Amino acid sequence: MKRLAKPRVVFATPECTPWAKTGGLGDVSAGLPEALSALDLDLRVLLPGYPSVRAAAKGARRVANLRAEFGLPAATLLRARLPSGVAALILDCPSLYARKGGPYLDVDGKDYADNALRFGLLSRVAARLASNDSPLGWRADLLHCNDWHTALAPAYLAHGLPAPAPSLVTVHNLAFQGIFDLGVADALGLPPDSLKPDGVEFWGRLSFLKAGLFYADRIATVSPTYAREIRSKAFGCGLEGLLDARADRLVGILNGIDTRVWDPGTDVALRRNYGADSLDDKAANRVTLQAEMGLAADEGALVVGMITRLTDQKGIDLVLDALPALLERPLQLIVLGAGESRFEQALRDAAANAPDRVAVVVGFDEVLAHQIEAGVDAFLMPSRFEPCGLNQMYSQRYGTPPIVRATGGLADSVVDHATGGDEATGFAFADATSAALVEAVDRALAVFADRDAWRAICRNGMARDFSWGASAGAYREVYRAMLAAR
Ligand code: ADP
Ligand code: GLC
Repeated sequence: MKRLAKPRVVFATPECTPWAKTGGLGDVSAGLPEALSALDLDLRVLLPGYPSVRAAAKGARRVANLRAEFGLPAATLLRARLPSGVAALILDCPSLYARKGGPYLDVDGKDYADNALRFGLLSRVAARLASNDSPLGWRADLLHCNDWHTALAPAYLAHGLPAPAPSLVTVHNLAFQGIFDLGVADALGLPPDSLKPDGVEFWGRLSFLKAGLFYADRIATVSPTYAREIRSKAFGCGLEGLLDARADRLVGILNGIDTRVWDPGTDVALRRNYGADSLDDKAANRVTLQAEMGLAADEGALVVGMITRLTDQKGIDLVLDALPALLERPLQLIVLGAGESRFEQALRDAAANAPDRVAVVVGFDEVLAHQIEAGVDAFLMPSRFEPCGLNQMYSQRYGTPPIVRATGGLADSVVDHATGGDEATGFAFADATSAALVEAVDRALAVFADRDAWRAICRNGMARDFSWGASAGAYREVYRAMLAAR
């Protein structure tokens, strides 16, 4: 019997851990393709050749030369393998990607002025790979785009590329849309009949994400609750009308986590490894962390941790407002984060005012992130919105109950103690206010005082399965439906 060919998929993304990561999208772009590849798919991850990617991709070899088109420069495609074994296609274009600074921002933290071209090229190449204009002897049957940086691809597929494949856009964060002056449309090769509201135009400007949401066959986002929230004015960032109109094409699929990288039983970053049956060993990590952070060796305090981008989204202002009240309680706070300088400064000031109770590390530090997950008692995520969030899942796996605002993926992955009965894994609050945050911390403190009750919550979290299997299965179903519809 002839074996059916595996569906061919391009997974286009602007970041992929460990080669390039600024946040959760990097982790998702590593874990999801790996899990999908196990489900009978020939999947290749397409990403830009930033210096960190070129340095990490050992043995990358050139597989195609890409002609210059419109105002987009010539480039090459390199083939390599991600550490997971998944095939990677690296879009090499030194004039656009070989820069000091991060994937999106220069060394001063400002957007690169030519981001429209940088990610226009990524979108264009993703689309070509999913059409009969593919520069390889291989073309995709389906294109999976991630965030605005790749979301122009469905517009290219709709405007002129031969035999276009169906496309899916996953929205990891609707707040980032890739909006530019319409004047750049020529350089991007967008035809005049796409420059309208039923196209790539958004209030007189060009929006990459809007283009994707309009032209893609399907839209996914990273939790069921966020999929509902973004159809409303409060969360829709101006795109709620379009998302609501396409609700039959919109699905929310909760992200998974890498359960090998995030495993307290084997994590090499930890002072002592532990599991659900050896929670006493978790305490060794707490003692070390308190000492290294310069906090008082207070056994009774609830040590609360945060690891986060310091932006409005993450509710840092709520924490700063709540801090005086929190410090009236037996509590210590450890924050690892980087982002807006006003938040960095306010947090540094808070630590300076109470050095034995508040510790702040400004920067990006993966090893410390693991040590915090293991060493703190509870993990705080008071996000104003949170498409999915990964740290609340890492926390549960580390026996560190999360205290979260009930929004997006936080609502979908944490079982609140107040309503969850024997299943509770953490504490959730509804209102984005410092008072509601303090009230949730008080509920956590009350349980923390009862060692057995607290450990039951820790163990419930540790027993949850957040591995990629379920998410990948759900995406595979979406792929199946898209392929069947063509
Ligand atoms: P977002 O993508 O919105 O930033 P997520 O919770 O999805 O939020 O993912 C954030 C990821 O980035 C997690 O893996 C988290 O541990 C990591 N992270 C964020 N800030 C830091 C930091 N300062 N140091 C180390 N890791 C960080
Ligand atoms: C975005 C969101 C975050 C999500 C991540 C991965 O950065 O802010 O909530 O977990 O993408 O999907």
